[in-house]
Amino acid sequence: MSDHVTTHQAEEDARNEEILIFLNGRIVPKAEAVVSVYDSGFMLGDGVWEGLRLYDGHWAFLDEHMDRLFEAAKAIDLDIGMTPACMVQALEETRVANDMTTDAHARLMVTRGVKSRPFQHPGLSQKGPTVTIIMEHSRPSIPRPIRLATVPHIRGLPMTQDPKLNSHSKLNCILACIAAEKAGADEGLMLDVNGFVNTTNACNFFIVRKGEVWTSTGDYCMNGITRQKVIDVCRADGIPVFERNYSLVDTYGADEAFLTGTFGAQTPVSEIDGRPIGSGEMGPMTERIRALYKALVEDSAARA
Ligand SMILES: Cc1ncc(COP(=O)(O)O)c(C=O)c1O
Repeated sequence: MSDHVTTHQAEEDARNEEILIFLNGRIVPKAEAVVSVYDSGFMLGDGVWEGLRLYDGHWAFLDEHMDRLFEAAKAIDLDIGMTPACMVQALEETRVANDMTTDAHARLMVTRGVKSRPFQHPGLSQKGPTVTIIMEHSRPSIPRPIRLATVPHIRGLPMTQDPKLNSHSKLNCILACIAAEKAGADEGLMLDVNGFVNTTNACNFFIVRKGEVWTSTGDYCMNGITRQKVIDVCRADGIPVFERNYSLVDTYGADEAFLTGTFGAQTPVSEIDGRPIGSGEMGPMTERIRALYKALVEDSAARA
């Protein structure tokens, strides 16, 4: 039996069979939330998305998520057809319809919409965007620290498909994840074009060495909101934190390593390419940063 773990593993929740989904201005039961086979997202991965988490009635770092979504849409020349305020209202309507107050995860997706013919040209998407919000009851349940394997798939240069875009097409990351699982790990550790350690296929990546926290320069990875918040809380709490180039040698020799993302906040890493990292359990710095991040989320909810 496989003991694979994923960084987005949640407790089973039967209520998720009954959720209501936002689809182009309507709120419909899950079974009716379907899009056309001509949709640009389905056909070509032509769209952008955000993942948000609800804590105590508030979407954590909502403004940052909206900024990133609208920036990505602008970058791919996709007119969302809604203001950020309308998008927040749609999120809120979906939350209220689902009677969710905490421990929910939203996947907000915008594609270039239904095409008139089954070909690539963006001009064939003439009907306006497809906007959907899936909102699920969600309590992360990751039973053990994550094992990583370095994979041959790299984070590319921004002039091909900028790795900062949260695009619907994640094939590069999916192939990285498949390669890592085939190597007996849970998630793929991806290098940048220069061979420095960059990120994993679904999360940002940090190491801890001698009391210092290191992450990549940020040049080739998703501009993760959790990543930035971890950097911010480290700075505010006097923890030395560096965005820098570092190699696998530095990484294998780290005292701790952890992943960041909206879903799991900070997830400890036990092993990389068969080398144990630290004790193999969550280390004291990771624990400290988790507590600081939790306090930040609570504080921003209290201020909202
Ligand atoms: C490749 C990748 N890295 C990192 C992240 C984490 O970003 P955030 O902290 O904004 O959830 C994501 C999530 O969308 C991602 O897809």
